[in-house]
Amino acid sequence: MEGCRVAVVGATGAVGKVFLRIAEERKFPYTALRLCATERSWGKRLLVNGQEHIVEPATPELFSQVDIAFISASGKASREYGPIAVQQGALVIDDSSTFRMDPNVPLVVPEVNADDLDGHQGIISIPNCSTTPLVMVLKPLNHLNPVRRVVVDTYQSVSGKGSKAVAELLDQTRLLHEGRTVAANDLPQRIAYNLFPHIDNFEDTGYTKEEMKMVGETRKILHLPDLPLSATCVRVPVLVGHSEAVHVEFERPMAVATVREVLSESIGIRVVDNPASALYPMPIEAEGIDDVLVGRIRKDLSHPNGIALWLSSDNLRKGAALNAIQIAEDVLKRGLLLRQRKAQSWRR
Ligand SMILES: NC(=O)c1ccc[n+]([C@@H]2O[C@H](COP(=O)([O-])OP(=O)(O)OC[C@H]3O[C@@H](n4cnc5c(N)ncnc54)[C@H](OP(=O)(O)O)[C@@H]3O)[C@@H](O)[C@H]2O)c1
Repeated sequence: MEGCRVAVVGATGAVGKVFLRIAEERKFPYTALRLCATERSWGKRLLVNGQEHIVEPATPELFSQVDIAFISASGKASREYGPIAVQQGALVIDDSSTFRMDPNVPLVVPEVNADDLDGHQGIISIPNCSTTPLVMVLKPLNHLNPVRRVVVDTYQSVSGKGSKAVAELLDQTRLLHEGRTVAANDLPQRIAYNLFPHIDNFEDTGYTKEEMKMVGETRKILHLPDLPLSATCVRVPVLVGHSEAVHVEFERPMAVATVREVLSESIGIRVVDNPASALYPMPIEAEGIDDVLVGRIRKDLSHPNGIALWLSSDNLRKGAALNAIQIAEDVLKRGLLLRQRKAQSWRR
């Protein structure tokens, strides 16, 4: 694989830190690494691959000196830096929801729709951390027997909301143990010893934006623009790892053994399914690994063509940092760097 110069905007964040660890693990072939964050982090020193890097501001000049800019900061930061980075000749791989539904932006999970990368125009988005494991499971099953409807309920960890929410769960738990009162701050409700069906803002339909992201993104990635999908997204007091209860209705009846076999053979999926021995996916098992864990595979007794299953996946790895790095690896393999095409201006 050829080498490339890389910037990470958001290097001090929950995803950014995992990103740097995975870049080391996978020996991502960067020839230069620039780390950016907000003003409060400028000057901090981060050790990557045994080398110290100083956190610096994200500037147009910096973007002109890199080939790939990973932006994993916030929607606002992506809106500000994305177009500038492209204009400066960098290929942007963006973790936020800002560009995901833009028809000019490939939204990619490499195991599912890597070919969509070929049409990129400077920005490539990764999906929401709940969408990614869902499409990884649906893709191989849909290939065998078309998916007609999906109902999914998520159990999302606090790290999905970022470092502040992680600190909030830990602080609230400690304060409650000390018999003190707690107040919600970064999250909309108390999260310690609680859960709530409220991730992102509510829309007029009664669904949240997070739930509608799962609908739109799943349809886009699977190229199934009319797929009926209903989601309920729930925040749970787990540090890392999102889980999902998934109910899938297929065109024809589907045998449980077939689902198990197809998923066992799918790259990036590990079937963990022996309820008799209390073996099923859990966030504590998914944390720190790349695979999406799938289990509790069973007939949905409420529908002749239905299958129910349960999954857990590390939202910081496959749900964000790992997926972004895999996209970059594919971009390099396919020779799709922007500088090889030419710097362009980003028009929305
Ligand atoms: N967490 C997940 O599971 C997950 C999954 C998929 C996608 N994402 C997306 O990934 C992004 C980062 O999420 P996170 O969970 O890592 O959040 P986080 O823990 O809050 O970290 C945010 C990072 O971005 C930096 N940052 C914020 N605004 C910036 C700006 N204007 N300029 C430069 N740096 C800026 C912060 O720097 P300081 O440290 O200096 O504040 C920090 O490094 C978000 O867009 C999120 O939607 C997250």
